[in-house]
Amino acid sequence: MGKRAKITIVGAGNVGATTAHWVASQELGDVVLVDILEGIPQGKALDLMEGMPVVGCDCVLTGSNDYAPTAESDIVVITAGLARQPGMSRDDLMAANTKIVKSVAEEVARYSPNTIVIVVSNPLDVMTYVTMKVTGFPPQHVMGMAGILDTARFRAFIGMELGVSIEDIQAMVLGGHGDSMVPLISCTSVGGIPVTQLIHSNRLAEIVQRTRDGGIEIVNYYKTGSAYYSPGAAVAQMVEAIVRDKKRVVPAAAYCQGEYGLEDVYVGAPIVLGAGGVEKIIKLELSDEELAALRKSADHVKANIAKLEL
Ligand code: NAI
Ligand code: 2OP
Repeated sequence: MGKRAKITIVGAGNVGATTAHWVASQELGDVVLVDILEGIPQGKALDLMEGMPVVGCDCVLTGSNDYAPTAESDIVVITAGLARQPGMSRDDLMAANTKIVKSVAEEVARYSPNTIVIVVSNPLDVMTYVTMKVTGFPPQHVMGMAGILDTARFRAFIGMELGVSIEDIQAMVLGGHGDSMVPLISCTSVGGIPVTQLIHSNRLAEIVQRTRDGGIEIVNYYKTGSAYYSPGAAVAQMVEAIVRDKKRVVPAAAYCQGEYGLEDVYVGAPIVLGAGGVEKIIKLELSDEELAALRKSADHVKANIAKLEL
């Protein structure tokens, strides 16, 4: 008889709590929420737990300020850290979030040495690199969530443009989670029809730009933080792929060791995601222009990695 997966979510703020909500409502496993704020992880876990009888999901949610209850987690999601305010780039969060993510990664390695980690904290690709280095985990067990979110934004905007089901829109956004992300038009289709047959190239360019600015568009509405519903949903999809060994083909920040000519850097790439974590990085045939954009995006991440003091 199988046991329920144990999913720890570090950072019980907007993204962490929303991820817990999506994860529990899909009955993906038991959830442990961890935060430095006393009462917040405990209260949010209990609040969600009290909703489980209503939605009929058998998940146990607990909250903690220390890591003992997280021991031997199957999956750890790291959302701890500062979020953007208007006028800030994701890179502006680097110094503060490096300290936070480093301290979290040390605890994760101590309590769950065999876990799979999904990093969410920004700047995403750099924080994923920090987590891999600090935990010492194999790269296939440490990945970052951004590509599913960036792709979901692109899909949502195409759906809004055409007035068709988002279920029929396939797309792939690669590269770092930042202004240099790379939406692949060549991999974008609607019900199998290449998107270029349905949307004029000028309009498509505007939709691509809106996708690149998708994070800041929400920050400008909220003014006190950044997106969390769609990020939480995207993390839950990754958790589901691992827990149910679905072998999903999704974009995620993965450690490149030669793929796309990239070395020693985390960047959004198409992966096969299953019980083994990043089971494969898929090597797509990119146009010269797309490859150049991906390399430029990776160079930006590398420049930030070079500034790290671990
Ligand atoms: P938030 O401020 O609502 O929550 C962050 C939580 O982390 C707070 O509750 C805080 O107390 C906690 N925290 C801080 N230091 C901690 C530590 N050492 N240990 C445990 N918990 C700690 O922020 P939000 O909106 O949840 O965003 C979290 C992070 O995720 C930010 O860095 C944000 O930029 C990033 N993010 C990344 C996305 C992506 O696509 N990769 C999407 C959305 C957010
Ligand atoms: C986003 O894209 C802030 O990175 C976060 O919404």
